[in-house]
Amino acid sequence: MQNNSFLNTLSKISFFFTLIILIQCKQASNNASLYNITKSIEADSAMVVTAHPVATEIGINILHQGGNAADAAIAVQFALAVCYPGAGNIGGGGFMVYRGSSGEINTLDFREKAPSKATTDMYLDSIGNPISHKSIYGHLAAGVPGSVDGMVEIFKKYSKLKDWKKLIQPSIDLAKNGFRITEREAKNLNEEQQNFNKYNLNKTAFQKDLWIAGDLLVQKELASTLEKIRDEGRDGFYAGIVAEQIANEMKAGGGLISIEDLKNYTSIWRKPLTSKYREYRIITMPPPSSGGIALIQLLKMVEPYDLMALKFHSAASVHLLVEAERRVYADRSKHLGDADFYPVPINRLLDSTYIVHRMSDFNPRLATKSEQCLPGEIHSEETTHFSIIDAEGNAVSITTTLNGGYGAFTVVKDAGFILNNEMDDFSIKAGTPNMYGLIGAVANKIEPNKRMLSSMTPTIIEKNGNLLMVVGTPGGSTIITSVFQTIVNVLDYNQTINEAVQAPRFHHQWLPDIVQIEKDAIDLKERKILESIGHNFKERGPIGRVEAIYITDKGKLSGAADHRGDDDAKGY
Ligand code: DON
Repeated sequence: MQNNSFLNTLSKISFFFTLIILIQCKQASNNASLYNITKSIEADSAMVVTAHPVATEIGINILHQGGNAADAAIAVQFALAVCYPGAGNIGGGGFMVYRGSSGEINTLDFREKAPSKATTDMYLDSIGNPISHKSIYGHLAAGVPGSVDGMVEIFKKYSKLKDWKKLIQPSIDLAKNGFRITEREAKNLNEEQQNFNKYNLNKTAFQKDLWIAGDLLVQKELASTLEKIRDEGRDGFYAGIVAEQIANEMKAGGGLISIEDLKNYTSIWRKPLTSKYREYRIITMPPPSSGGIALIQLLKMVEPYDLMALKFHSAASVHLLVEAERRVYADRSKHLGDADFYPVPINRLLDSTYIVHRMSDFNPRLATKSEQCLPGEIHSEETTHFSIIDAEGNAVSITTTLNGGYGAFTVVKDAGFILNNEMDDFSIKAGTPNMYGLIGAVANKIEPNKRMLSSMTPTIIEKNGNLLMVVGTPGGSTIITSVFQTIVNVLDYNQTINEAVQAPRFHHQWLPDIVQIEKDAIDLKERKILESIGHNFKERGPIGRVEAIYITDKGKLSGAADHRGDDDAKGY
């Protein structure tokens, strides 16, 4: 009898392990055969680099049908909302940097904003202590979404196809018929099941006991929301049924977004920030992103140095870059916020005398302590990126986000899309770190209808007046440093765009006073030198997922998709 039950147990255990092995084998083989993913590619005419092969394919198809980079970008944004639900979105927001083939430049801010009922202390308890999870999870964490309005604006101004329906239909089909999820997506969805269960009042398309690579993800409700956007444009989301669905979801779960907030949302065309870096022209995003200001500050701080002579990832070069990063993030904590609400001293922060002064206490032989590195005194602040160049030479650089992976985890009932948790990008209390450890103050406090400060840094670079590079990345606070390091890898260390994108990264954001590094990013010998002069290191997971395109000396388009994700580059 005893023997029998022992054998029973043994056979159950062995069945269990066989099942696990079968699942693992299925995952491995599914992932290998699911999609044809290209990390590095050269092409003559056009290029699309996105976080997901299905979105890249949809973008390329639009270009083949005569669409321009703007048309492809709109199609890609909607496609990512379906096939990359952790970051692609219609319930979030983002920024576009644009450069037309004749050199005209522009940016679009389709960032989320605080609901009109938001208050500065909405995430504090009765004695003023922060309740951080409220700005990160669930209904109260969501800002008024901007992505759909952003796409409508891009379409009105830049579309060549002039066929809105054609740009959205592929995503409707994708949501309706479903698509096979990658191993990475299956893993992410499995890890977040508890959050989906906790922050939804109804069953969503993302909930399942066990996701396996190759499973079909069907999103019928999202498909019907996309149909409304296809048929009614802006009103298909910001008015009518979908607006009511959002407002009802908010009422049911204690969120603040109202019908009025949705009606009043507008994206804003803003003058790009531009700056010279050596012989290059940097074209990037102004506030409410901190990314453009910070990127230009970083480049200007290292410009006087010969990085090539210092050698790539040597102690001397890492030290210089980290010290610049420390100072720039200290400035960010105090001076940056939505410039429509707070007088961000943009000109002063980018003033060459100020930048020289800011680096004047840089000691090449000693790390500055962050506690002694205060923000400069000024007298008078799972995302995704895609880069596209079309055959005419128009270039689009878009970073778009729900903030955290799968945003607030809350899916709007019957509408099938995930809401952002962008409210956490505000400073919920002066000095309290947000989910990326960033701190802020008055400049980035919560106010009704204000946009929360971002780090997103979509960027375009010119050389001698010609398009040279399109670049950007997700990564929260590490966005700025990842874009910065990719740029200097190419412009200063003469790396190919692919080498620059795949190279390991490091990151310093002033506080906490540590250099975050990817495994093996810095040679042990160099790391020892850096530790001896006062740097502290902390190894962490991947930093950024850069999607970039570079135009080579021979006029070829060279696309690079980050190996850190399912990212895919295609061109023709
Ligand atoms: O706007 C920002 O700076 C953040 N909401 C970006 C979040 C992000 O990049 C997450 N992705 N990994």
